[in-house]
Amino acid sequence: MYEDRILRADLRDKIISVDEAASFIKDQMVVGTSGFTKAGDSKAVLLALAQRAKTEPLKITLITGASLGQDTDAALANSHALNRRMPFQVDPVLRKSINSGEVMFMDHHLCETVELLQNQHLPSLDIAVIEAARIEEDGSIVPTTSVGNSAHFAALADKVIVEVNLSMPLSLCGLHDVFMAGVYPDRSIIPITSPSSRVGRTSIPVDPEKIVGIVITSVKDSPAQIVPPDEKTTAIASHLLEFFNREVSQGRLKKSLLPLQAGIGKVANAVLSGFINSDFENLTMYSEVLQDSTFELMDAGKMIYASASSITVSDEWYTKLMKDIDKYRDKIVLRPQNISNAPEVIRRMGVIGINTAIEFDIYGNVNSTHISGTKMMNGIGGSGDFARNAFLSIFVTQAASKNNSISHVLPMVSHVDHTEHDVDILVTDQGLADLRGLAPRERAKAIIANCVHPDYREELQSYFDRACERGGHTPHVLEEAFSWHTRLATTGTMKKAGVSA
Ligand code: COA
Repeated sequence: MYEDRILRADLRDKIISVDEAASFIKDQMVVGTSGFTKAGDSKAVLLALAQRAKTEPLKITLITGASLGQDTDAALANSHALNRRMPFQVDPVLRKSINSGEVMFMDHHLCETVELLQNQHLPSLDIAVIEAARIEEDGSIVPTTSVGNSAHFAALADKVIVEVNLSMPLSLCGLHDVFMAGVYPDRSIIPITSPSSRVGRTSIPVDPEKIVGIVITSVKDSPAQIVPPDEKTTAIASHLLEFFNREVSQGRLKKSLLPLQAGIGKVANAVLSGFINSDFENLTMYSEVLQDSTFELMDAGKMIYASASSITVSDEWYTKLMKDIDKYRDKIVLRPQNISNAPEVIRRMGVIGINTAIEFDIYGNVNSTHISGTKMMNGIGGSGDFARNAFLSIFVTQAASKNNSISHVLPMVSHVDHTEHDVDILVTDQGLADLRGLAPRERAKAIIANCVHPDYREELQSYFDRACERGGHTPHVLEEAFSWHTRLATTGTMKKAGVSA
């Protein structure tokens, strides 16, 4: 049985039920699972564990690539099965448990989790659970729609459980490029010089002795929720495309730009979709996630190659790709996330990083993670891996939201993920501030002139003017720096009384 999915014959004897597999996971264990932006995640064992945790004391540390699908994080949070969770999540139920202080969430740069594990800065992994399209004759695992941290989880865990997913086409085999650079002090360089470089193997090496159970599943990935471009995201996209056009006309970039990285979500989608009807050509991506827009750009003949750690697409695109991934076989590659997000490679290739901010301040510091400085939203994800090392580090957000009661451009951010040193370009629906070569006072002028919603411009200008009267390299009126956030908390709007809603 499953001869075409488990090529190594002796491993076929290790097929067990989901509950048996989940029973290997004991209270207080550290578990590493596949899954990156809802793709290629464990679809059975973690859910069985959540069920078990309803009736017995069971709490684990769960480390993944990034977010999980199937509402797995919600199920685990609802049954109080999580002690610690890292490095990223997007689940509203888990978010509540994190913000109530029940779950200890460690928000990592996505390229760093493997570093922390390898260097023994985190407790060692007891079990890895990895989704596979196929197990090869040497026992190695062909992952499915993401690679994430799975290769290192398989290497570092004491035991490995494999979920062989029959719904994943065998044509996924060959798509992955698994490269592991080794450990200090003998780590090798990552010899990637372009998004299409293939430098590793097509499967995840694993000692077959460590595989304690194989579970057969047939569940599709959870789809990405694609929000169509609206007025604001279209405005942001058009400011950014204008900027790229200027860069080309001034000779700093070619029409093929440089490899693009784009965060997930409606703004990134609108920006990438904007390239379809542009003059740009021969575009490439060196990113974390391949989304609908990646394949649309390929179909439109605009994008020639895309490298990432996962494929996360809408239902419609998922059906198309699972049927016909061969059409894109020579145009895409999936890598471990510490390679897709490797500072070394991002800097070498000059990646253009486009990420979304929750808010930014007049000097260009960016908050990507915390609502009003305290409540965790999702996590920093890969935004910092790219921002620090990019050829151009771009952050986008809407100027104001919730009927303009919230300004996303502020005197001081309430939490800092990306410092002014890592931010080149800021874009809102109002306009674009090019911060390159500017000192803090100049940055503030550019941001106030271009990015702020008109309802907040006068007050922000007044804040900056009064700050400058006090002096300093980065002038502030400290007692007022968070007054917009405190006003939102007490009155429901950041607007001063008397300013119309
Ligand atoms: N108080 C209360 N709510 C606030 C707020 C504040 N001070 N500031 C922002 N918000 C709200 C907004 O009103 C909005 O609410 P809504 O969803 O109910 O409309 C929400 O926070 C932010 O949503 P939005 O502006 O629509 O952004 P988004 O859905 O595009 O997500 C991030 C933005 C920053 C949360 C998301 O991109 C992210 O998690 N980024 C970090 C990870 C990352 O960059 N990864 C790299 C690539 S995968």
